[in-house]
Amino acid sequence: MEKSQTYNDTVVRQFAVMTVVWGIVGMAVGVLIAAQLIWPSLNMDLPWLHFGRLRPLHTNAVIFAFGGCALFATSYYVVQRTCHVRLFAGPLAAFTFWGWQLVIVLAAVTLPLGLTQGKEYAELIWPIDVLITVVWVAYAIVFFGTIATRRVKHIYVANWFYAAFIITVALLHVVNSLAIPVGALQSYPIYAGVVDAMVQWWYGHNAVGFFLTAGFLGMMYYFVPKQAGRPVYSYRLSVVHFWALISIYMWAGPHHLHYTTLPDWAQSLGMVFSLMLLAPSWGGMINGIMTLSGAWHKLRSDPILKFMIVSLSFYGMSTFEGPMMSIKTVNALSHYTDWTIGHVHSGALGWVAMISMGSLYTLVPRVFGRESMYSEKAIDLHFWVSTIGVVLYIASMWIAGVMQGLMWRAVNVDGTLTYSFIESLKATYPYYGVRLLGGSLFLVGTLIMAWNVWKTIAGGERNAVQAVTEPA
Ligand code: HEM
Ligand code: HEM
Repeated sequence: MEKSQTYNDTVVRQFAVMTVVWGIVGMAVGVLIAAQLIWPSLNMDLPWLHFGRLRPLHTNAVIFAFGGCALFATSYYVVQRTCHVRLFAGPLAAFTFWGWQLVIVLAAVTLPLGLTQGKEYAELIWPIDVLITVVWVAYAIVFFGTIATRRVKHIYVANWFYAAFIITVALLHVVNSLAIPVGALQSYPIYAGVVDAMVQWWYGHNAVGFFLTAGFLGMMYYFVPKQAGRPVYSYRLSVVHFWALISIYMWAGPHHLHYTTLPDWAQSLGMVFSLMLLAPSWGGMINGIMTLSGAWHKLRSDPILKFMIVSLSFYGMSTFEGPMMSIKTVNALSHYTDWTIGHVHSGALGWVAMISMGSLYTLVPRVFGRESMYSEKAIDLHFWVSTIGVVLYIASMWIAGVMQGLMWRAVNVDGTLTYSFIESLKATYPYYGVRLLGGSLFLVGTLIMAWNVWKTIAGGERNAVQAVTEPA
């Protein structure tokens, strides 16, 4: 007789709820700093509300708290369903939840206090770095332990992407954070000069590739077929996609250091690998979108699928734009401008946030034992509000960025600069206004989601048992 077994969905539920909570916090801070760029006095003259301290709070909150919780929730959900087995080491899985929340709270306290290592996306001070390492090792044990104890032979492709994300983030975090502590709150990196910069951007770019991309591709490979009710368009393409993506990403980091003291050959290497990255990225996007072939009509009526397909379109857009920006002559224009910020948010809002939201809308009713989300109309409203929000955000930053780049490089016949920096800043204000509007709309969308999730959870008794044999 088939042994009946329940999944460990407690930890999935906890992470799913916290994804929404941290999403609101992180985006609210994003809206605040977007407003500060228009009205600097919004910092109230308080050091812990200064742009320089809140900006890393925003990036850490949206990437590691919002994105991180979404990745934990979905990976724990997917690995159990596709391996037909309960999570390995349940207490350790619970530890990853509480440990990760502690990391987030410590980040939220230390960053506004100005305690930082000053490395972008790796700002947190060394004791928190140690805690991150411990939580991450526990995460790896739970995830790989579940894979090792699986009851189906095959390892579904979504798990390959989650696995690459977990292993690579461990490697990136440990190597980039190596430092010598000189007190409880301060340390010095073991690297110096240009080597430090190279290690930092090897980390930074792969944080994009593995934290902000690989794990979310894992989501795509499970939740798009699930929601569309269709198999993945091409399983073979997914395997090629996986190996090509993980082997090329590692080498593209130097595109963040164009025209610096990094050796020229290293910059060119970064550029060439970034251009090559277009192929696997688009292969993956096409594989996701084409999963809908034969089911295109569902896009008309299913707002969750709309989230997923639009997020894949933004993924395609940002992974076309990224390789273009890595070309040195293009980067000469885009670097230091708001074009980069536009690129970041077409990836971060359009791709990362929207695929997470689509996946959560699929996952939440299932782990809370409901037929469906409380309100489908609210999902549709959320979809439109957030899509308009992203478009306003990124279009305004593209225009502002190109304008800034052109103004900064314009010279008169006598060799003097045509525009002062302040003139370029004044010209940017209207676009900062549009960005603030777009970002606020995106935040409103997330609040609508929070309401819908709340109503779904509050809507009735949870099913106690779910069959282990639910098809992947
Ligand atoms: C309501 C939505 C959001 C708003 C209003 C917003 C606003 C901002 C602002 C104003 C900045 C600083 C730009 C500058 O320094 O000139 C920023 C930076 C950044 N944001 Fe957001 N953001 C939002 C959502 C997100 C999300 C969801 C993510 C990631 C999943 C994200 C990732 C980032 C990153 C990585 C940076 C640093 C970019 C860089 O250094 O080039 N943001 N954001
Ligand atoms: C084929 C894929 C991609 C390539 C080749 C690429 C390339 C680039 C380039 C050239 C820059 C500008 C570097 C500079 O001038 O400083 C950049 C910045 C950035 N990209 Fe991408 N990008 C890709 C995809 C993505 C995606 C999908 C995301 C988000 C999910 C993303 C997030 C970022 C972030 C956060 C930065 C700002 C880093 C910083 O300076 O703080 N990128 N990318």
